[in-house]
Amino acid sequence: MKIVVTGGAGFIGANFLNHFVPKHPEHTFINVDKLTYAANLGSLAEVAKADNYRLEVVDIVDFAAVDRVFTEHQPELVIHFAAESHVDRSISGPRAFIQSNIEGTFNLLEAARKHWSDGAGLFHHVSTDEVYGSLGDTGMFTESTRYDPSSPYSASKAASDHLVRAYARTFKLRTRITNCSNNYGPLQFPEKLIPLMVLNAVEGKPLPVYGEGLNVRDWLYVVDHCEAIWKVIHEGEDGETYNIGGNNEVRNIDVVKEICAIVAELSGKPKGELEGLITYVKDRPGHDLRYAIDATKIRTELGWEPTETFATGLRKTIAWYLDNPAWIEQVRTGEYRKWIEKNYDNRG
Ligand code: NAD
Ligand code: DAU
Repeated sequence: MKIVVTGGAGFIGANFLNHFVPKHPEHTFINVDKLTYAANLGSLAEVAKADNYRLEVVDIVDFAAVDRVFTEHQPELVIHFAAESHVDRSISGPRAFIQSNIEGTFNLLEAARKHWSDGAGLFHHVSTDEVYGSLGDTGMFTESTRYDPSSPYSASKAASDHLVRAYARTFKLRTRITNCSNNYGPLQFPEKLIPLMVLNAVEGKPLPVYGEGLNVRDWLYVVDHCEAIWKVIHEGEDGETYNIGGNNEVRNIDVVKEICAIVAELSGKPKGELEGLITYVKDRPGHDLRYAIDATKIRTELGWEPTETFATGLRKTIAWYLDNPAWIEQVRTGEYRKWIEKNYDNRG
């Protein structure tokens, strides 16, 4: 089968390709990526040598380019990861989120409608639990929770989910949607909480916790997310939505303290010294308090279970960052440094 994977040079897309390209020589994987600041071809060094892998440097906002990819490769499956994904960037500069996440998804759906008029292909849309908004101290998101996004990022993802459902209902396009909680693991751009804290702890820099650090996220190891997507594609049903989560709710401050403990153990630095770097900074505007996913549907209907606990996955992740200084050097470009100044200099 020919599979278009959009955003394959980003964090989750690269983990997906690294995991599945070698396992499935019978499929050809076509990575369609614009290569934004968040992409890194260094993450795909091994996969790039495989006979069943192709790269198409394409901006999905450009319909003609997307249409050409469909004409040339004739994919039977699209797995749509490509998006602007960082909430803080969506607050300081929302336009790219509207363009890539809404218009980009629209272009892919239009190309799919045009090229799959006979019902030939399947469109798998990768989305987020953030579309459901914020929970209080109790409750969990199910597939029928009302959409209530808080940030320009989550609003753009909500819009893209609605477009996918509209194409399924109106044009009978075969689609599936997954809404997943916070991913962590190797290859994540260090603007996100976990890799940012790991690298800062290793370098003895401040650990900037937003607000009081009491916000709760449900953490899932990235390869468990990728396996869940694969399962939905192979065993799920058209038109359905599946929530994916790790059942690992942790307060941000506890995530940061756990990172300090593991970095201390692996690097030999005193844990107290690392915890002393924790700095409470100005909160994210519209900061969702708590996310929690009820993953009953994917567990019971498809038999998916995560393999990593937060303890095992976090240790693996930190060890990966400590073992890969060359990858870290590659991603910490001038653009990265500009972002760190822009986001943290005025948080006080
Ligand atoms: P990322 O920011 O690490 O990577 C995004 C990739 O998309 C990059 O390679 C980038 O170059 C590409 N891209 C962006 N705009 C593009 C465009 N206009 N045309 C072509 N390519 C473009 O993101 P990620 O964390 O890997 O997230 C991937 C997907 O999973 C996103 O759709 C995100 O909403 C969703 N998701 C992420 C998480 C998470 O915790 N990271 C959780 C749930 C869902
Ligand atoms: O829930 C799924 C979402 O998880 C995905 O859809 C997004 O693409 C992904 O970026 C992630 O969004 P979050 O906003 O939850 O992730 P982030 O790593 O930016 O922040 C996690 C929590 O940590 C959040 O409550 C904000 C807080 N935080 C973050 C940073 C970067 C800090 O306290 N300090 C920081 O420096």
